[in-house]
Amino acid sequence: MSDLYQTIANSTVGNKMLKAINLPIPTLLERYQPEKASYVSGRVLVGAAPGGTATGAILHNLKEAPEAKASTLAGLDAAPEVEKAAGEAGVTLDNYKAEREDETKFKALVFDATGVNNIEELRALWDFFHPVIRKLDKCARVLVIGRTPEKCDPEKHTAQRGLEGFTRSVGKELKKGATSQLVYVDEGAETQLASPLRFFLSAKSAYVSAQVVRVEASDFDPAGFDWKQPLQGQKALVTGASRGIGAAIAQVLARDGAEVVVLDVPAMADELKQVASRIGGKTLELDITAEDGPQQISKLAGELGGLDIVVHNAGVTRDKTLGNMPDKFWDMTLGINVRAPERINTKLLEDGNLNTGASIVGISSIAGIAGNMGQTNYGTSKAAVIGMIESREKELSERGMTINAVAPGFIETQMTAAMPFAIREAGRRMNSLNQGGQPVDVAETIAFFASPASKGITGNIVRVCGQSLIGA
Ligand SMILES: NC(=O)c1ccc[n+]([C@@H]2O[C@H](COP(=O)([O-])OP(=O)(O)OC[C@H]3O[C@@H](n4cnc5c(N)ncnc54)[C@H](O)[C@@H]3O)[C@@H](O)[C@H]2O)c1
Repeated sequence: MSDLYQTIANSTVGNKMLKAINLPIPTLLERYQPEKASYVSGRVLVGAAPGGTATGAILHNLKEAPEAKASTLAGLDAAPEVEKAAGEAGVTLDNYKAEREDETKFKALVFDATGVNNIEELRALWDFFHPVIRKLDKCARVLVIGRTPEKCDPEKHTAQRGLEGFTRSVGKELKKGATSQLVYVDEGAETQLASPLRFFLSAKSAYVSAQVVRVEASDFDPAGFDWKQPLQGQKALVTGASRGIGAAIAQVLARDGAEVVVLDVPAMADELKQVASRIGGKTLELDITAEDGPQQISKLAGELGGLDIVVHNAGVTRDKTLGNMPDKFWDMTLGINVRAPERINTKLLEDGNLNTGASIVGISSIAGIAGNMGQTNYGTSKAAVIGMIESREKELSERGMTINAVAPGFIETQMTAAMPFAIREAGRRMNSLNQGGQPVDVAETIAFFASPASKGITGNIVRVCGQSLIGA
């Protein structure tokens, strides 16, 4: 569905008019274009707190972005360390001296805060960001890399936890489609930053802001990895894929090289076949709540030689306040949104039809994080999806598999087009980017989780909500 307000706000006359009365201008967000050579194009300013261990990985990955130009902020305590890391990575850095009248614009500010050991050292954030935060280009990125707090001594844990408040607050101050994120990396897992750097610095994360991702060590080796076709050779299943977000997920996974099976209820067979023919995929017409649903899925998975990616996208809303809600609304919502995914996971694992390195991705919702009036059933089901990620994480890690979820906010689909006008407009505007997201934004985040390059990322929930005020 088109966003009329955004179209008007981006016209010459409309833009002037809305600015004059102080209304927000939702920037047209840049989205991923496969033909671009780099995941980030433009000037990238890299900084670090003294003793940071992620700077080398940041610079090494920037070296593989020919359209990016790396700079470092002159005069910071850790500037010599950043320059040394650049020399080792083979990156030419220029020294940037921030001056107010200077018109330089940055496409990304990346700060290695892994060396921050205590509250005093958090001051390094101010030192780096204060002189340059007003010098961001359109759709720029702020990215902070920290050390996983739970794995630090108490003083460091306290300070590292503070980074979350920093990146979330910055996200609320940024304008013109810029976003802010935090990645916590375990000591020794710095090579695993390749995938989150490429996701969070690129247009693939257009509608993701103020999120926190935790990265652990894994056996993924980025050397020689094909970042243009990251899912080459992977077999994927996407449920609820005949339209909306599910169709976008199927398309993005196929674009990235996966062979995709699209599943939906028999009533959606025509739409499902159209999606499959667009992406050269297979179809499975099935109600996932059917008694033998998991068996049918597992049988097909076995015939395909096992699945590498399972995306539990099928979902429904049946809204009513609790006192007015018939039991069938409750049963149906819980049954489709979480009971069926749980049964499917169990069956695939029991039958050994998930391949080593497989990735399961669930779809939660901001309603599952913050709650929503009229959605006790939906909110319960979507919070339970988060429970499903938490409860399976350890078992799957032991088998070399990952499980994560996305929690979309307001996404432009038939589901949200059916909302009453006032609620729809509130949903669209009440976020830091002042607009709804597109199905492709959810799909890109799922492809990020599903990539073999994200093997060190499990048990994470990433909201795709433009930093929605609901549940913020
Ligand atoms: N649109 C949003 O703003 C938004 C926000 C948060 C979360 N989500 C979640 O994202 C997912 C996709 O949402 P959407 O907006 O594309 O919805 P949608 O209604 O457009 O698509 C959902 C698909 O799931 C299928 N489906 C439903 N029950 C099924 C069953 N029993 N078996 C097989 N398929 C079934 C439907 O036929 C449909 O094709 C859902 O899980 C939804 O809860 C959406």
